[in-house]
Formats: sequence, C-alpha cells, structure tokens
Amino acid sequence: MGRVSGKVALISGGAGGIGAATAALMVKEGAKVVIADLAKNGPEVANSIGAEFASLDVTSEAEWEQVVAETDRKHGGIHILVNAAGIEGDQKNNSILSTSLAEWRRVHGINLDGTFLGCQKVMPVMERQKQGSIINISSIVSFFPTPFNCAYGSSKAAVQHFSKSVASWGARNGNQIRCNSVHPGLIRTRMLLNIAGHRAPELNNELAAAQNLAKATIPLGALGEPDDVALQILYLASDEAGQVTGSEFRVDGGWSLNIGGGRR
Ligand SMILES: NC(=O)c1ccc[n+]([C@@H]2O[C@H](COP(=O)([O-])OP(=O)(O)OC[C@H]3O[C@@H](n4cnc5c(N)ncnc54)[C@H](O)[C@@H]3O)[C@@H](O)[C@H]2O)c1
Repeated sequence: MGRVSGKVALISGGAGGIGAATAALMVKEGAKVVIADLAKNGPEVANSIGAEFASLDVTSEAEWEQVVAETDRKHGGIHILVNAAGIEGDQKNNSILSTSLAEWRRVHGINLDGTFLGCQKVMPVMERQKQGSIINISSIVSFFPTPFNCAYGSSKAAVQHFSKSVASWGARNGNQIRCNSVHPGLIRTRMLLNIAGHRAPELNNELAAAQNLAKATIPLGALGEPDDVALQILYLASDEAGQVTGSEFRVDGGWSLNIGGGRR
C-alpha cells in the first residue's frame, strides 16, 4: 500500500521542478496523478512518470473549471490539490521602484490568483466527498521580505494567509478538507537557478551561483532538492496528516535561522 493509494491528485505546475518531483512521488505512492501545466513538455513529463496531463494556464478561470470537471468526471473525485505553478518574475526590475504595475499584476496573477482559482474550483468536489487535502506552495520569503522580488514576496505572503482561509472554510459542517502551505527555501530548480544567476552574473554559471548562495546562507550547507519538498507535500496529502490543517511548513535547510546573521 502506498501512502496515497487510491487517491486522485491534481498538481498545477506539475511539469517543472517541485511540482514534477511531487507528481512522480505521488504516482510511486499509489495516487492517480493529473499534471496541469502550460509547459510544452508537460505531456512528455507526465508520460515518463505514469501520470496524466491536462493543459492549464492557472490564470484562466474557464480552464480551471474544465480541468477540474474533466478530472472529476474521469476519476470520480479529487482528493489532493497541489498548487505548485508559480513564477519568480522579472529578475532585473524587481524592487518597489522598478517593478511595473503590469509585472506586479502578472506575478500576482499566476502565483496568487492561480492558487485562489485552484482552491475555489476544487472545493465543491471536496465538499461533495466531505474530505480532501490542499497544499499551496508559498515560499520562505513569505516570512522574510527583502528589498527585491517585492511582487513575488507579496504574492507568496498572500498565498500563506489565503491558505488559512481555505483551511477554515474546509473544516466547516463536519468536513475534513485540510489546507496547508509549504515554504521552500533554496531548491535546485529552474526558478532558483534563474534567480541565483542574476544575483551573481560574474560567475557565468547559474548552478555555481546557487551553490555559493546555499553555502553562504543555509545552515545545513547545501541546496535543497525538489524531492525534499515533495516529501513534505506527500505527508500533508496523506491520511498521516489527518489532524494537520491551517499550518505552515518550512523546507529550507535552516535558512530561517540565519536571518540577522551569516552562516557560522
Ligand atoms: N525553487 C525554489 O527555490 C523555490 C523556493 C520557494 C518557493 N518556490 C515555489 O515552488 C513552486 C514551484 O517552483 P519551481 O522552483 O519548481 O519552479 P519551476 O519553474 O521549475 O516550475 C514551475 C512550473 O509552473 C508552471 N507554470 C508557470 N506558470 C504557469 C501558468 N500560468 N499556468 C500553469 N503552469 C504554470 C511552469 O510551466 C513550471 O512547470 C513555485 O510556486 C515557486 O514559487 C520555489
């Protein structure tokens, strides 16, 4: 028996990084998994791990409605929703002064509106079942703002707060619909490599830049891997977490411990 055997999981952003690692782990642990993403290689990723693929731009209400209805029709329910789709936004102009209103809206549109829509469209299915688990991927920066990536930080802080609203709603009327947020630190994916590359352009090597950043700021000393986050998500999705809702889970190698000081 796998840890999520017999469950149906819908994973937005499931074609990349953390979402893809989560999809693969859930398939291994017995779930039927639908990857919902707009990436061109989405069908290939899904095929390679034994998942299904659905085309989805998370900013589109109509597409969410279609993907949720189709998944529900085909599999007779949705027990797990992971909102992992996200973008880091423009890394050249991301301070409060340099972020354009259009960019602010683009980042919030995908990271926040996309998460809101996913929760809203799946909730009636979970209410019919009277149970389900929603995991929203926020970020460690939701706790620790910086002068940069202000739209990204704002969107992730909003996801953290919104997740608690969803958790409160999901527990009404005797329902067992849980919602938690997961807060990754520095995880080796396309997104982090892009961010680190912009922070240390002199290195001309995104992975080296990310590794240097990890050595300098993470007490445990190394970049996290997508699987590190996937394992946290798997726990929250499984019945093992039956008493866990409205909470925040950091997967950051202790990065939070270093605020106000360097790695010793
Ligand atoms: N990598 C990190 O260090 C890190 C740290 C904190 C939080 N996160 C969060 O984890 C989540 C996953 O990020 P990742 O690092 O795996 O990045 P990634 O870029 O590797 O994957 C993101 C996925 O989201 C998809 N996506 C983007 N826009 C979309 C849209 N409009 N509709 C549907 N899908 C869309 C992409 O196609 C991609 O498959 C994001 O929400 C990110 O903010 C990542």
